[in-house]
Amino acid sequence: MRAVRELTVKLGERSYPVLVGQGARHNVAQLVPAGAVKAAVVTQEAVGVQVDTGLEQRTFFVGGGEEAKSLTTIEDLCRGFAQFGLTRADLVVGVGGGVVTDVAGFAAAVYHRGVAVAHVATTLLAQVDAAIGGKSGVNLPEGKNLVGAFWQPAAVICDTEVLASLPPREYRSGLGEMAKYAFLGAPDLAELDLDDAVARCVELKASLVAADERETANLAGAGAAGGRALLNYGHTLAHALETVGRYDLRHGEAVAVGLVFAARLARYLGRVGDDRVADHDKVVGAYDLPSRLPADVDAGALVEVMRRDKKVTGGGLTFVLDGPDGLEVVRGVPADAVLATLSVLQ
Ligand SMILES: NC(=O)c1ccc[n+]([C@@H]2O[C@H](COP(=O)([O-])OP(=O)(O)OC[C@H]3O[C@@H](n4cnc5c(N)ncnc54)[C@H](O)[C@@H]3O)[C@@H](O)[C@H]2O)c1
Ligand SMILES: [Zn+2]
Repeated sequence: MRAVRELTVKLGERSYPVLVGQGARHNVAQLVPAGAVKAAVVTQEAVGVQVDTGLEQRTFFVGGGEEAKSLTTIEDLCRGFAQFGLTRADLVVGVGGGVVTDVAGFAAAVYHRGVAVAHVATTLLAQVDAAIGGKSGVNLPEGKNLVGAFWQPAAVICDTEVLASLPPREYRSGLGEMAKYAFLGAPDLAELDLDDAVARCVELKASLVAADERETANLAGAGAAGGRALLNYGHTLAHALETVGRYDLRHGEAVAVGLVFAARLARYLGRVGDDRVADHDKVVGAYDLPSRLPADVDAGALVEVMRRDKKVTGGGLTFVLDGPDGLEVVRGVPADAVLATLSVLQ
């Protein structure tokens, strides 16, 4: 068995460990908070990953997909926790991908006004992103992730062994999310082995979260620091593709297209040269991810959706873009520039 390494998300008294490596799930019992007697394990049938907390534990299954990220699921979980007799001193454990960690985290945040949660992330996407950083929440019919809470976990486990059972498309989707970190400080990411690559992404996410826990660095008037919002690199277009909804793209695949698009938009705006565009193509290509828009894409519809993106605060559109000083949040990007850039990716 490869060594399991321990990283830390540094948030003062809310700091927590992230264990990364093959078989790391077997360490879950060592991470339970002192005084906990019961553990509510939240997972999905399809995950199939067992954990042993060493506590009196009961498993609660939630459904799959975005529909499972609902307030109904939260109510069902909290009622289940109450019937199980889970107290404020006990523990919730989310075992799954981002859907599970988002709902387990939110249920833990609101049950008894907050009980400890630990995540055992079982998708690549959850290991490099969703399980780290304390954002939890569910969807409303009006929009994705509209209700939620910042609730930092007590510990996160990224067991790379369990990724072997992931459907190939889910794995690829995780690679798309991973690719963004190549531009957030890990240029050599595609050359690392899986454990090292996951650990590097966790480290980068942890440092952005530690610097800007609640994503306030980027609010209007707070300057161009970027902070946690930089994790949305490649995501403005990705979210638009997902919102328009008729394209067969997993989240990470949409992010991959979003990354090569963002590089070209930055070049169009004179922020970077051809070399940086080539860097983006190389990373996305190394992971065998899509780098072109779907053939039948409606560029006008995408721009309309991007205008409504939650990060938009003034005129024009808002993107995280590369530039001479690295990534930053750029406001007021003219729609013409976006349309011209979309047209070269069709
Ligand atoms: N909170 C955050 O900071 C954050 C960040 C990024 C994404 N997210 C959220 O994460 C969600 C997407 O997460 P995801 O991509 O992990 O998808 P997911 O949770 O839907 O998992 C994908 C599929 O893989 C299955 N699965 C999980 N682990 C498995 C395993 N080891 N073996 C076999 N099958 C397994 C799941 O049952 C599911 O069917 C979205 O809802 C997104 O909003 C949250
Ligand atoms: Zn993402």
